[in-house]
Amino acid sequence: MCGIIGYIGDRQAQSRLLKGLARLEYRGYDSCGIAVVTGGVEVYKDTVRVEALGKASPRFKGTMGIGHTRWATHGAPSQVNAHPHLDCTGNIAVVHNGVINNYQELRNQLTSEGHNFTSETDTEVIPHLIEKYYDGNLMGALQAALSDIEGSYAIIVLMTDEPKLVVAKKDSPLIIGLGDRENYIASDVPAILDYTDRVIYLEDGDIGVVTRNDIRIERDGIEVDREEHKVLWTVEEAQKAGYEHFFLKEIHEQPKVIRNTLGDYTRDAELVVDLAGIRDTGIESMLMIACGTSFHAALVGKYIMEELLKIPVRVEIASEFNYYSHTLVKNIALAIIQSGETADTLKAMKRLREAGCQVIAITNVVGSTASRIASQTIYTRAGPEISVAATKTFMAQLMVLYWLVMSYSKADARRLTSLLMELRQLPSKVQQVLDNETEIIEYAKYLSKYEDVFFIGRGINYPIALEGALKLKEISYIHAEGYAAGELKHGPFALLGSNTPVIAIVARDNTYEAMLTNIKEIKARGSPLIALAEEGNEAIEELADSIITVPRVDTIFSPVVNIVALQLLAYYTAKERGCPIDFPRNLAKSVTVE
Ligand code: G6P
Repeated sequence: MCGIIGYIGDRQAQSRLLKGLARLEYRGYDSCGIAVVTGGVEVYKDTVRVEALGKASPRFKGTMGIGHTRWATHGAPSQVNAHPHLDCTGNIAVVHNGVINNYQELRNQLTSEGHNFTSETDTEVIPHLIEKYYDGNLMGALQAALSDIEGSYAIIVLMTDEPKLVVAKKDSPLIIGLGDRENYIASDVPAILDYTDRVIYLEDGDIGVVTRNDIRIERDGIEVDREEHKVLWTVEEAQKAGYEHFFLKEIHEQPKVIRNTLGDYTRDAELVVDLAGIRDTGIESMLMIACGTSFHAALVGKYIMEELLKIPVRVEIASEFNYYSHTLVKNIALAIIQSGETADTLKAMKRLREAGCQVIAITNVVGSTASRIASQTIYTRAGPEISVAATKTFMAQLMVLYWLVMSYSKADARRLTSLLMELRQLPSKVQQVLDNETEIIEYAKYLSKYEDVFFIGRGINYPIALEGALKLKEISYIHAEGYAAGELKHGPFALLGSNTPVIAIVARDNTYEAMLTNIKEIKARGSPLIALAEEGNEAIEELADSIITVPRVDTIFSPVVNIVALQLLAYYTAKERGCPIDFPRNLAKSVTVE
């Protein structure tokens, strides 16, 4: 979603703003723009990619500026709706991420007072409010404007003749990057990694002034200290490293991600959170909340927990959980949220916390909002994930869930020892799937000609059918549906035929025979059938039209190898269809609105 960058220092702002915006592209956007103080405020914005904006824009000479990538909410993607937005005088420029709920009312009021609006955005009320309240103190004017505003915001304001950037945050992420005689402001860490690894994470209600040499943050008029953090991600990790797309690079990083995430926890038992201090009393039930791919990780988590912890587990899509009334759990919940900023999941977390529930966040972003709302946080070690569609963060979430469950498991010691041994072998098993890329490319070429595909799975691989379908649809634009294999006959059978391939995930567990029956039923209806099955499965070789093989693992770990094969399949299918793989249309990496 919208990305924000700000620069103030000794160097030319424009190139730094453009680089920052390029690093924010992964959040998803439809237009972008910059404003630089050159004497007056110069603005250049358009509905183009950041690279095109950089080529087309005039060279602005100035050492203070702001920039924005916009993901349209109020008003279509257009040049006029792109940020930055200006006040009537053209001296105040604002970039904003978030939603102003009462903007229409404010706009009517400001219009009646003589302010002219040029865009359809909610954001444009901010520079006009600041203009209205400005009496020589920019921070004071922003503070007054914010007291009129209802909604969420991360804001940077600049003004001619004021050598400072003024910032504010509520319910949308904003960080300050600390440099040497220069400072940066951004929506997230990758935007500033080229220049600094020292950051401050602003908190809700913070309002601050950032100058070349100084930062002052206030809350309710009182100066507050915000701790400086050292970022562990490197700029290399946020680059393509020779791969054509981030998506492919991130798939290939998964053996390392497994090692890093497990390494942290297996090295030091203390790092496994004692879930809300209940190690001694035990966990009686579990609620998990998440969205998108993280929701699928939670569904896998449900199977692992029910098998190894023998407890009832409830998994809820956060956006649903927030809007229907039910008895809130009071004890413990896991929130799975790679970005740490998804609005729906954050809202669910807050609700649970208010109801007295312990909420453990599993997130990939240190200092994210989720980590501040949570009672405890477990960090995945996936490194920066740039591709909008998640791959390696999903893998890291699975690893945390496996490790967490195994460290609480009541399974017998022999089973646990053997699972632990297998867990340690997962990087090499995943590598074997990656080494099978050439075979998968052939299937992708075949799949790319179809417009509808079903993915079916059972048990612990049902969430993998959902995730496989999600990956395919989001990056290749093929209509794909994930189904529990047994459900296909309750409706989707009407759609089967020679134009609708089915990908069946076959696991060697108690679902095996039932899956063979499902495959036969599908074949009888004329659909091409690709099986995803472990090597050496002769029965499947006879039944399926083609078979993608994965290495043999304990069924509990089968999601790990299966999803890697499906990620590769989605990637090469999308590539064959010429899709913009890393930045699919209309999608955003960090969904900061409900
Ligand atoms: C967006 C991303 C997905 C991600 C989902 C949930 O839709 O494009 O890749 O799975 O948000 O993200 P979260 O940060 O809550 O895990």
